[in-house]
Amino acid sequence: MRNVEISTITEAFLATLADDTTPRFRLLITQLARHLHAFARETELTHAEWRRALEFLMEAGRITTDERNEFVLISDVLGLSSLVDMTHSAPGGTPSSVLGPFHLLGAPALPYGGDLKADLAGDTIVVSGVVSNVLGEPVPNVTLEIWQTAPNGLYSNQDPAMDSMALRCQARTRSDGAYLFSTVRPAPYSVPTDGPVGDLLRGMGRHAWRPAHFHFIAEAKGYRTLVTEVFPRDDPYIDTDAVFGVREDLLIEFVRQDSLEALPAGLAIAEKIKAPFYSVQFDIVLAV
Ligand code: BEZ
Ligand code: FE
Repeated sequence: MRNVEISTITEAFLATLADDTTPRFRLLITQLARHLHAFARETELTHAEWRRALEFLMEAGRITTDERNEFVLISDVLGLSSLVDMTHSAPGGTPSSVLGPFHLLGAPALPYGGDLKADLAGDTIVVSGVVSNVLGEPVPNVTLEIWQTAPNGLYSNQDPAMDSMALRCQARTRSDGAYLFSTVRPAPYSVPTDGPVGDLLRGMGRHAWRPAHFHFIAEAKGYRTLVTEVFPRDDPYIDTDAVFGVREDLLIEFVRQDSLEALPAGLAIAEKIKAPFYSVQFDIVLAV
């Protein structure tokens, strides 16, 4: 491996791989080296730029804690997380979308028609839908984990004033695949900008906002677990989501209802809901 040159260093690197390297690891490391080397060659990357990139990664390491992972956020704002999601979305099923950093294990069970809004100020939203399989058959007993921000744009694990499990639940579909709950309208949310990702976004002249959304994890025996989100179609950030999570099939409408006659049967807080309220329908298709 003498006389390594700009044009031969990639092949020299690849020649170092041992024969017993697993095929998948060989493919990944080969393509990583090819693309990284091509990037450096094509951009004629300078020492100062290379050092800046390493400082960026070191800063991400310094700011990362158990509660905050800047590396995941880097992947998110570069579109890599969404690219991996889309590459492995199940054909025929509801598209997946990013999990995000605010999911908590152990959310409380919510019966059919249960309420998440409690005494939070904001529009009442009634969310309903049916979970079916790719043949159109309803799927009973699906666990639906749902979480969202409060109207102030914060999740319960960001806002000490909120109950730790506020606006989070595990609902379950009925025998006809249906689910139903009432909640409060979520709000757009800014990804954290006080770390290196903030510098990156500012450098690109990009904002840090995500459109309002509900997160869903749908899990049922015999089906592929779906991690996804849904977004109001008319959200101001719908076409500029900082983490590229929006897909046409994940758009929902908040339909204003001026009459209580539009309330579906079975809501636990039906007596307390006043018009106008807003209804949202999100049907989910699970693939195997
Ligand atoms: C979120 O959904 O809240 C989120 C997703 C990716 C990065 C940051 C936040
Ligand atoms: Fe989120």
